[in-house]
Amino acid sequence: MNQLMRSLMSRVIAPAVFAYGSLMSFAAAQSDEPIVIKFSHVVADSTPKGQGAQLFKQLAEERLPGKVKVEVYPNSSLYGDGQEMDALLLGDVHILAPSLAKFEHYQKKIQLFDLPFLFDDMAALDRFQNSEAGQSLLTSMTDKGITGLAYWHNGLKQLSANKPLRTPKDARGLKFRVQASAVLEEQFKALRANPRKMAFAEMYQGLQTGVVNGAENPYSNIYSQKIHEVQKNITESNHGTLDYMVITNTKFWDGLPEDVRAELKNILNEVTVEVNAQANALNDGAKQSILDAGTTEIITLTPEERAQWRDAVRPVWKKFEGQVGADLIQAAEQSNNP
Ligand code: LMR
Repeated sequence: MNQLMRSLMSRVIAPAVFAYGSLMSFAAAQSDEPIVIKFSHVVADSTPKGQGAQLFKQLAEERLPGKVKVEVYPNSSLYGDGQEMDALLLGDVHILAPSLAKFEHYQKKIQLFDLPFLFDDMAALDRFQNSEAGQSLLTSMTDKGITGLAYWHNGLKQLSANKPLRTPKDARGLKFRVQASAVLEEQFKALRANPRKMAFAEMYQGLQTGVVNGAENPYSNIYSQKIHEVQKNITESNHGTLDYMVITNTKFWDGLPEDVRAELKNILNEVTVEVNAQANALNDGAKQSILDAGTTEIITLTPEERAQWRDAVRPVWKKFEGQVGADLIQAAEQSNNP
């Protein structure tokens, strides 16, 4: 939308009368300009989400030439994870893929995904996300103006610190960076450690300066953020998952011309298959790169040691059962036994 049209619209149409999405669709219908879709995220291009955003841009611009222009902003370059959701709701960005840990203000049930040791592996998580219960969460925030379009995988989370973490008592008293998630805070409290909520972009510096001593991340995020340079030890705990919901502003999405929306949805489905098929390999590659860098020891747990971690954090489930729903937790657990 050019400056003239913008000012005309803001003078003629009272902003309170028309929601942002209606303005966008009106503008799209009136203009020959391509619809600009801003996709903002906080990770590097080399990660599963980063690759997915790039592929989405490529396919959308190839298949909807002249109709759509996708601008991808990686690495918190447009909005950090403290601001991106507000920006989406205001219509300043159109697609995000926040981690499932970042939805608690919009849908408490999504806290399910943060429960430690819930999914045995990524295949179980995938089965749950594709189940009726998993799919229903995608459309559970439309009353808040957020439409979920897909789940994208990253991977299993690993603990890191500057001391070996073999058993839960090793984590006692350490300060761990956590995403903005009450479940993850409780997880570290259950270990008698100190959780500190911190934006993703601030984690490296937080670890470097000692504001925090440890973190939990999948290998792709550890390597691409150079977290291994400031953490001497990684414990391959696989204690939780880091996955994403690709979301859009409901009014923006519903206001798109029907053919464009349908094609974008097809493309997104295709990209989702690709991202989810590649995510494990990207994490394996990142693990190997960390080993090659020689900065960090990777500790493998015995089944007994891993069971100690599980037992220590398992009480967290009970704390969130009321908000998440016992039935949903049960459905998720069932995905471990196909
Ligand atoms: C985090 O904050 O650790 C993650 O949500 C970052 C991401 O998007 O993978």
